[in-house]
Amino acid sequence: MPASNPAELADSAEELLQQVPFFRSASARMRADLASRLRSRHYRAGADVFHHGQPGTAMYIVADGAVRIYLPSETGRDVVLAVLRHGDMFGEMALLERGQPGRSASARAIEDTELLRLERQDFDAVLVDHPEAQRAIIDILVERLRKTNESMQDAYLLEVPGRLARRMLLIAEEHGRDTELGRELGLRLSQQDLADMIGASRVAVNKQLQVWRKDGIIAVSRQRFTILDLDALKHQYPLLP
Ligand code: CMP
Repeated sequence: MPASNPAELADSAEELLQQVPFFRSASARMRADLASRLRSRHYRAGADVFHHGQPGTAMYIVADGAVRIYLPSETGRDVVLAVLRHGDMFGEMALLERGQPGRSASARAIEDTELLRLERQDFDAVLVDHPEAQRAIIDILVERLRKTNESMQDAYLLEVPGRLARRMLLIAEEHGRDTELGRELGLRLSQQDLADMIGASRVAVNKQLQVWRKDGIIAVSRQRFTILDLDALKHQYPLLP
């Protein structure tokens, strides 16, 4: 979202907030207030936004690009918690938690990315001045917990093919787009990214992807995955309640 001066930025930020489900229902006054407090910043693909454990001084909204939220480990294998895109918010937990526990996860731009940044004191002011913002934050946290519960269920009950199929279908649903071939995932992902998302080894993911490619269930071209046969992929895991 290129905006060269503060007034232009506030306009484009307000436009963006209207597209964010959590702010769509907020009052126009709150959106205008929030928009005037946001600052835009560009991150190149691969740039860190913040690290796990760092003190939190601001929260962010993704205006453009993509951000990976992950837990780093000393073994070098990350646990990917989420990939966030246009309209998603992150970095609010360290601002809400009492005490100084720091960031609960790391955040990195995985494409050239534009973020809107809201400083802690502005975040606090929005929460105090606009009760609907409190409701919006609760909605975000509840949805996140629901997704985390589902991932736990997958981790406990499904083997690699099932977990991989579920994750690809979820990404396709959240970020994907229909093409003449099928449903493209909408994110550029390496096999390691997929492995980190489902807690499996890259070798196991590679093996499974090869089977699905051979069976005509998926196609892969330059880290872009397309699901050619949605039903066949759904049949890779038992139906969970
Ligand atoms: P914070 O702890 O400030 O910094 C890391 C951010 O990642 C956190 O706020 C949340 O916004 C986000 N985050 C943490 N856990 C998850 C998760 N399981 N799913 C999606 N986003 C998360």
